[in-house]
Amino acid sequence: MNWAVTTYDSAFGYVSAHGAPLVDLLDPQPGERVIDLGCGTGAFAAEIAERGAEVLGIDGAPEMIAQATALNPGLSFIVGDAHEFTVGESFDAVASNAALHWMTRDPDAVIARVHAALRPGGRFVGELGGAGNCAELIAAMQTAWRVFGLGEPELPWYFPSPAEYAARLEEGGFTLRLLEHADRPTRMTEGPNGAADWVRAYAARALGDVPPEMVEPLLERVNELAAPALRRESGWVADYVRLRFAAVRKADGPAPMPGGLLTDPLI
Ligand code: BEZ
Repeated sequence: MNWAVTTYDSAFGYVSAHGAPLVDLLDPQPGERVIDLGCGTGAFAAEIAERGAEVLGIDGAPEMIAQATALNPGLSFIVGDAHEFTVGESFDAVASNAALHWMTRDPDAVIARVHAALRPGGRFVGELGGAGNCAELIAAMQTAWRVFGLGEPELPWYFPSPAEYAARLEEGGFTLRLLEHADRPTRMTEGPNGAADWVRAYAARALGDVPPEMVEPLLERVNELAAPALRRESGWVADYVRLRFAAVRKADGPAPMPGGLLTDPLI
């Protein structure tokens, strides 16, 4: 599964984005002001800061911000909901690594807040799970839940198709410069027990509805179902699919009117 917008050029300082570190696609410059949206414990923010940019990490979870602050002295972090955050000044770039797929409430609101935080020409660069992400893991969960007579598991993620996310970015006032949708099988590091440990780590909400005595046999069944696709001799692999993009905030123009008319008084 590979899909790419090819209108990308070297304006981001990088020629082939696939598989490269996201920070290279962002290409932060010394002195630039950059937001890391959904910064978690601040590892990506630290990479950005290493390039000489001034970084502000934002995350909705206070415990993540507390850890980020402790782990990265000298960097700035604040608690903020990506759907609602505001910042006092314009930033040169907003970047987001493996976080946008957790922001499920209203993807357009997130894009609108990013737009408002950027100067015209500012960059929005990100990577999230794309359509088909974790398909085998999710199928194994759904089947196991059904076999145990449970309702559909609650899956707290947003994995858009490239076409959908491209449309949202364009509608949200961005020009898309690069969009890639590619498989990225990734070794599971959540624990020795494969898919079961992955579910415990990332789908805790779905397990919240399961009677406690059912959790272990249910997760064992998830492992049995997922193993043929995801268990290799060398260990378990998650079937990640990445959606990676780079977009530029359009210059401010006259506000669009319903029906396509412009508010320019000279027209
Ligand atoms: C990911 O694609 O990075 C991901 C998706 C769901 C849970 C955890 C990670």
